[in-house]
Amino acid sequence: GKTLAILTGGGDTPAINSSIEAIRNRASFLGYKVYGIRHGWKGLLADGDVLDLTCQPYDGFYGGTALRSSRTNPFPSIKNPDNRVPQILKNLERYKIDVLVTIGGDDTNGAARLLHETEGFPVIGFPKTIDNDLRTRTLHHFNGKAIEAVVCPGFPSAAKGVMEYAARIRTTAESHSRIIVLEVMGRDAGWLNASASFGGAEMALVPEFEITKERKLVFLETVRENYLRSPKKSLVIAVSEGVRWYDDATGKVDVMYASKEVDEYGHARLGGIGAIIASEISNKLGIEARAETCGYYARSGECRLYDRRLTTTLADKVVDLLLREDYGQMPVLSHMVNFQELEEFNTTSIDMGQVGNHPMPKEYYNIDKFEVSEA
Ligand code: F6P
Repeated sequence: GKTLAILTGGGDTPAINSSIEAIRNRASFLGYKVYGIRHGWKGLLADGDVLDLTCQPYDGFYGGTALRSSRTNPFPSIKNPDNRVPQILKNLERYKIDVLVTIGGDDTNGAARLLHETEGFPVIGFPKTIDNDLRTRTLHHFNGKAIEAVVCPGFPSAAKGVMEYAARIRTTAESHSRIIVLEVMGRDAGWLNASASFGGAEMALVPEFEITKERKLVFLETVRENYLRSPKKSLVIAVSEGVRWYDDATGKVDVMYASKEVDEYGHARLGGIGAIIASEISNKLGIEARAETCGYYARSGECRLYDRRLTTTLADKVVDLLLREDYGQMPVLSHMVNFQELEEFNTTSIDMGQVGNHPMPKEYYNIDKFEVSEA
């Protein structure tokens, strides 16, 4: 029989174990021996860190990834010029792996695509991101217009968490007549932050729309008006960690870094913009504002039902790709489903070359009001 191996890379989400379990179950039914590679691409370096998952009990509802993760990318980069692909190929051969399924975002699946394109290795990509910024060319009908949108495994669970978080802190904001600035993960895309609005956050700042010097003045004025108009004299403002915000001190619109340390890809750790915005609101408007960081709360915890259905449905498409020996593909939804309800899913697959970053389109955001547009 053939052997299929699964690896998980990049940041964790609540839906990864569900994806692993669903792919494992289906591949075993097809007669594959199923391996799990630990710590992402790193588990294919050195002698390999590989487990047999074929008959192991597996809890798909438990969050995170039991296979663990890393941000290692075997292809040469500016930070790490070594080409570690030969070692990867050696281990794929050592463990007699016929097909590799990579559960990841842009980076993990980008490396998988290169492995397929340059070495002809059979790979299938599987989407995973809480940021929901993986381009999949899915069309969503929004306010009468068909626009490109995505629902990636991990996002629905994370969005639910952000929604609940925003809904909860409201009672404290109301009790103290305060403004709470809620900082939500999202380096380049505001999808996750936008879900705080479904939890009642009145205003939102997302990375897609930069806050210049002029816009900042309008923003502060809008905050004042909204606060004074609110029945309980309180506001919840959701802010993406990656928002581009005008810095009075430097006169530049920039992403605020809490840390200047960068990881192996040159990514700095984000965080701290919520506190900066809250203090500017307090100082400039004289309204008490506090910052709150949602952070890993969004990314952690159990897989929600929506993600469970999404991952199992996309895993059905993996079966289809395996049977057709159609590699270099990634299963995606073929139409957008109502985010709030569980509806029928339809799937298709796209060439992994089409996978890329996908910001939130302008239709979703009202830049004049600093609000997420109503569907
Ligand atoms: O890509 C998911 C994400 O949560 C981003 O929103 C965030 O910028 C990044 O990962 C932070 O990752 P970590 O804390 O693991 O470095």
